[in-house]
Amino acid sequence: MTDKLQPLHPATLTLGDKSYSLPTCEGVEGEKAIDISKLRAQTGYITLDEGYVNTGACESAITYIDGDKGILRYRGYAIEELAEKSRFVEVAYLLLHGELPQKEQLLQFSTRLNESSIIHEDMHHFFNGFPRGSHPMGILATMVASLSTFYPIPDELDDATEIQIVANLVSQVRTIAAFSYKKSIGEPLIYPSYKLKYTRNFLNMMFASPVRDYELDEDIVRAIDMFFILHADHEQNCSTSSVRTAGSSLANVYAVASAGICALWGPRHGGANQEVIQMLEKIHAEGGDGTEFINQAKDKNSPSRLMGFGHRVYKNFDPRAVVLKKQCDKLLNKAGMTDPLFDIARRLEECALKDDYFISRKLYPNVDFYSGLILRAAGIPTNMFTVLFAIGRMPGWLAHWREMLHSKQVTITRPRQIYVGETLRAYQDIDQRS
Ligand code: ACO
Repeated sequence: MTDKLQPLHPATLTLGDKSYSLPTCEGVEGEKAIDISKLRAQTGYITLDEGYVNTGACESAITYIDGDKGILRYRGYAIEELAEKSRFVEVAYLLLHGELPQKEQLLQFSTRLNESSIIHEDMHHFFNGFPRGSHPMGILATMVASLSTFYPIPDELDDATEIQIVANLVSQVRTIAAFSYKKSIGEPLIYPSYKLKYTRNFLNMMFASPVRDYELDEDIVRAIDMFFILHADHEQNCSTSSVRTAGSSLANVYAVASAGICALWGPRHGGANQEVIQMLEKIHAEGGDGTEFINQAKDKNSPSRLMGFGHRVYKNFDPRAVVLKKQCDKLLNKAGMTDPLFDIARRLEECALKDDYFISRKLYPNVDFYSGLILRAAGIPTNMFTVLFAIGRMPGWLAHWREMLHSKQVTITRPRQIYVGETLRAYQDIDQRS
């Protein structure tokens, strides 16, 4: 326990005729916890908490969320203020270093990102090996893990090397993402340019070609940069917990980042942004108003859910969805930029928010509900949506990895279980089995 945790009155646990005293503590925002780290040794019991819904797995000073009040802060700064006033590279610095940079520090970090943006030339061959139509998340996870073979990590990791590796990853993930897209459409790769800043550089690698320049639209660049900011961290979510879990074995950081990418891919996590657009497209193609989708999502016999709705932590509203909806509105009100899917999304949200099923379960639009519409407006193909999420989330994953490595003691993640399988039985020869 660090000295940031304040001890409170101990809790008493009664098991049969025995009582045990368990320490409790409070974090800086008043979150309270029962410390059960000695529970098994003291009582022989473990806790059972599927999906870790009530489990605090670590102390962290990176991101604070209050799901009931719709609060999200990176290093103490409100997400709404960062989205409006900051830029992604500055937010990445904030997450990784704990403080907003001075001008000189920002320049240095930005230059470092630019200088690390190229990937080893031999890695280009790998892109040719993937079958046509491969999902770019599969390519991204593979290529990020393979960075470890081109950029081996020294056994002794000093702080300067660690920062350099982290900058490499924040920068190279964007190059790999753009290259995987270019390969998927059969166009030559566009190298990163030292003249362009982070988000512009990415969009240029995605959309420029040797036979045409890409006209960078200021509003699109800003919207994508804001998308990255809003996705940069979200405390102990599924992919970040995967990063911490993989990192706790002291696996190399490229393998650890790849674990995060794989966990993010699923439709209940980062993959939801792609699913939302596919759902909206289906409603549009069928000419319905979405009622059928809502009914299906409410039907317990159907596996479908209203994609982009609900959140493990936010039970009132997702502050990122509020910012994105406004940004979406602004972008799609621009001359020549309309999207019928935006109207469908607004209608769907209106209907769901009046429906008792969603109200009683506290299901509100999450960050993915409007993000896909912004990405569509920027010309990003649907199968790249989760890849953009991964680019945005990379500084968050790495901030958690560093925080864990620098904590007093890295405890390998190893939950227990309650076994419910067969008890001991004798082996039978194959011809005796019925
Ligand atoms: N549509 C319909 N019903 C839903 C939805 C939904 N989108 N989300 C939750 N529910 C229902 C569940 O069926 C359950 O109902 P029940 O109590 O009658 O059994 C109840 O609401 C609680 O749902 P849980 O799955 O227990 O909630 P949990 O906190 O575990 O799940 C999750 C959160 C995974 C995000 C869920 O809401 C979901 O699947 N949403 C759709 C996918 C999505 O948008 N994911 C993106 C999340 S944001 C992100 O990762 C960046």
